[in-house]
Amino acid sequence: MDLTTLVIQSFALILPAYIANSVPVLARGKHPVDFGASMPDGRRVLGDGKTFEGLLFGLLFGTLAGIVGGLLLGEAAYFAFLSCMLALGALVGDMIGAFIKRRLNIARGAPAPVLDQLDFVVGALLFVLPFYPLAWEQVLFIIVVTPPIHLFTNFMAYKLGLKANPW
Ligand code: CTP
Ligand code: MG
Repeated sequence: MDLTTLVIQSFALILPAYIANSVPVLARGKHPVDFGASMPDGRRVLGDGKTFEGLLFGLLFGTLAGIVGGLLLGEAAYFAFLSCMLALGALVGDMIGAFIKRRLNIARGAPAPVLDQLDFVVGALLFVLPFYPLAWEQVLFIIVVTPPIHLFTNFMAYKLGLKANPW
C-alpha cells in the first residue's frame, strides 16, 4: 500500500471515532452515566464528565458521519454499521479511560497523558476490527497520529471556549 492511500484510508476510516469523541462536549449533559455513584475507594465510578447526553451525541453524529460517507461511496448500510461500532468503541474506550483516571485519583478534567489521547481510539479500533480487516500499517498509523491531532483539536476547542481545559 502506498503512503497516500494509507493516509487517506486510515483517516477516512477513523473519522467517525474522532467525531464521536469530540461532539459530547457540545451536549452540555446533566445526567452522569454512573448516576453519581462512587466506588469503595470513595471516588466516583466515572465522574460528571461522562453523561448520557454525551453518549447520545457521540453515537448519533459518529454514525451520521459514516452514513454520509457511505452514501458518497456506496454500501451505506455497511458504513453505517461500521461507524456505529467505531462511535460505540470510542465512547466505551473514553469511559474506561475515565474509570482508570478516577481509580488513580485523577480528577475529572485533569490531564492523564497518553490515556486521554488514546483511550477512545483504542476502543474504536477494538470494536471495529472484528468487522473490518484493517492492515497493521493502518492501525499503527492511526495510533501514532491520533495523540498530536487530539492535543491540537482540544487546544482549539479550548480557545473557542468549548472546553474548560486545553487538553
Ligand atoms: N462528555 C459527556 N459525555 C461523555 C463524554 C464527554 O458529556 N460520554 C462531555 C463532558 O462535558 C466532558 C467533555 O465532554 O467534560 C470533554 O470530554 P473529556 O475530555 O473526555 O472529559 P473530561 O472532562 O476530561 O473528564 P475525564 O477526566 O473523566 O476524562
Ligand atoms: Mg479529558
